[in-house]
Amino acid sequence: MSKTLNIGMIGYGFMGRTHSNGYNRVPNFFPELEYKPVLKAACARNKEALQEFADTWGYESIETDWRELLKRDDIDAVDICVPNNLHGEMAIAAAEAGKMILCEKPLAMDVAEGQKMVDAVEKAGVANTVWYNYRRIPAVTLAKQIIDSGKLGQIFHYRANFLQDWTINADVPQGGAGTWRLDSAAAGSGVTGDLLAHCIDTAIWLNGSISNVSAMTETFVKERVHAETGEKQAVGIDDACAFLCRFGNGSLGLFESTRYARGHKALYTFEINGEHGSLKWDLHDLHRLDYFEYADEAATRGWRSIHVTDNGGEHPYMDHYWVPGLQIGYEHSFLNQVADFLKSLETGEPCGPTFADALETQKVCDAVLASGNDGGWHDV
Ligand SMILES: NC(=O)c1ccc[n+]([C@@H]2O[C@H](COP(=O)([O-])OP(=O)(O)OC[C@H]3O[C@@H](n4cnc5c(N)ncnc54)[C@H](O)[C@@H]3O)[C@@H](O)[C@H]2O)c1
Repeated sequence: MSKTLNIGMIGYGFMGRTHSNGYNRVPNFFPELEYKPVLKAACARNKEALQEFADTWGYESIETDWRELLKRDDIDAVDICVPNNLHGEMAIAAAEAGKMILCEKPLAMDVAEGQKMVDAVEKAGVANTVWYNYRRIPAVTLAKQIIDSGKLGQIFHYRANFLQDWTINADVPQGGAGTWRLDSAAAGSGVTGDLLAHCIDTAIWLNGSISNVSAMTETFVKERVHAETGEKQAVGIDDACAFLCRFGNGSLGLFESTRYARGHKALYTFEINGEHGSLKWDLHDLHRLDYFEYADEAATRGWRSIHVTDNGGEHPYMDHYWVPGLQIGYEHSFLNQVADFLKSLETGEPCGPTFADALETQKVCDAVLASGNDGGWHDV
């Protein structure tokens, strides 16, 4: 018999939409799961806009105060889709209220806050996960399976980029709806917490822990008008960041992120080079995984581009979707994470990345920012 999981969604922006889509569609694509999400309540401060969101996505009710949402007995799991400075307070209160938590990334504003969040979910014993959704793109999951099989042999290099170009104009404000990412009080950091955190989560998942880092950060536009006060104020976020690192397995890492790479909207790429082969992936072509295998016959050896769409069990998640050759998209990474979370409730296994896993990413982010400030190498 199916069980329900009543969701309380906080935030109705970009992530509020992707997650709501995931909850709505998961029973269609993963009908075998015991738990079915029910969109019980949506929460945000603007009642009118919230009601429109609730009607669009099928929420049964609304709450304009997140603390009231947490008091409700009919909410099993809280989904935190708000700016970064609110994750900690909401997640700790949700854990204390005994709610399961699905929290957006980055986990926290810094390691100290993240540690309190980890302590809170562990003390309460509530299921938790953080939406580092790129792990659930089938081509990325396939990369994990290939690496774990040992096919690449010893790993030498890991490199990743996440490039955008939307803040080059100095007239873009900081703070407020839509531009909170430029306000360090709301975002904590710039590209490090927003974009590199994704790259770091994927990298740790694929290639293991990061030991130490050396970073370079830059804020190209030093002052911006704050959307809420109308005042020009200093910009506290990193507009761009590049860092070197060593992984625990001895491999070397190279990461770059910026919002000043003219022409790039969301160019997340990674490449991993091992003794016997290499893998590379590009978000703009997300259903493909490029693979080079040195053991191939020399005359025809070369990079092959795997179209990760086979549904006979060869390719992760794809047996839940269409026929071979037909790909899925960005939104399905969230759908897959919802499915994995629901499955974890059946099995009792954690749904990674948990808060504790995401704290590891936060530690790398904090070390990167500290290194960006003082120019030295920092242990993670
Ligand atoms: N996993 C990903 O790929 C990914 C992508 C984008 C954003 N994110 C993360 O998701 C979070 C939200 O980002 P977004 O792009 O959806 O932002 P957004 O600006 O589109 O939406 C933020 C939402 O938070 C709501 N909100 C703000 N303060 C609130 C409060 N006090 N109470 C209730 N609601 C409040 C706003 O009304 C809005 O609905 C951030 O932490 C961000 O880093 C993750």
